[in-house]
Amino acid sequence: MIPVILDCDPGGDDAVAILMALSAPKKIDLKAITTISGNASLEWIHTNARKICELAGRADVPVYAGCSNALLRPAANASFCHGNDGLAGADLPAPTMPLQKGHAVDFLIENLLNAKDPITLAMTAPLTNLAVALMKRPEIVKGIKEVVWMGGSMGTGNITPAAEFNSFVDPHALQIVLSRNIPFKLIGLHITHQVTTSDAWMERLRAQGTEVSKQVAGILAVEAVSDQTRYAIPGRAIHDACVIASLLKPELFTWKKAAISVDTMEGPHVGATIISTYPAHVKEDTHTSCAMGVDGDGTMEFILECLGTYASHQKEASGF
Ligand code: BDR
Ligand code: CA
Repeated sequence: MIPVILDCDPGGDDAVAILMALSAPKKIDLKAITTISGNASLEWIHTNARKICELAGRADVPVYAGCSNALLRPAANASFCHGNDGLAGADLPAPTMPLQKGHAVDFLIENLLNAKDPITLAMTAPLTNLAVALMKRPEIVKGIKEVVWMGGSMGTGNITPAAEFNSFVDPHALQIVLSRNIPFKLIGLHITHQVTTSDAWMERLRAQGTEVSKQVAGILAVEAVSDQTRYAIPGRAIHDACVIASLLKPELFTWKKAAISVDTMEGPHVGATIISTYPAHVKEDTHTSCAMGVDGDGTMEFILECLGTYASHQKEASGF
């Protein structure tokens, strides 16, 4: 069992990451979902996280609200892809499960300080919550097994030619996290743009015939339009799913130790990640690495497999 806290900003691809994490209760011990503004404003984001937990039949998962702003940069959102509410294409009822009392940053601190076994932080959003937690209580690093983050890029960006969205929204938070030399794994756009939907894949998803598959297909169909028109990729890149896939099926990814930094200077390159795997640049004691390769088709297959478990959950529940 991998103890995990999932920090996210759902967002359709974050929603898939949540559903994948909840699809494997024997492998992932999901302690909580912490949320942060990113794809949409914070109210939408924590509401969406709870909608997705309820869709998965897991109203028991604690959901916390975190930071509603980046450390220094102005607010941004990705409504061009995810809609104003962050979950365009979904048709889900307002959640009835409560938002937890207390702030996500304090939850992180409390849990990391008291962790019996170090916790994996699966992070699919700007890194503000973790950066603030590290500023408040630096000693939380002892409770972190590793941070696995979707963000950055070894090539071009998406929100700008230079920057990927999550690093663009809060590059200063990324800089703080990197400065602590915590075990940190980056999955950038150079990887996630190989993990995309196709018409055939969408058909197979719809054919699962569950409420989960119907909602996810609705979301990904809307988001695909943005990825196709903005980046000329064939379908929707399910970026955040890669974080959970890398935990559940590590053989899908290859990694290299890397020197990673981020441009925090206002200008056309703000949020750009600079990543080198050259031995000349990578310090011997570095704990940061970058995903260098992915089995894209294999990951898409695995996403389908995870979402497919909801069919058997439903069958079990209904006694088929
Ligand atoms: C990242 O930005 C967000 O819009 C997605 O949810 C993903 O985390 C991709 O750049
Ligand atoms: Ca995200």
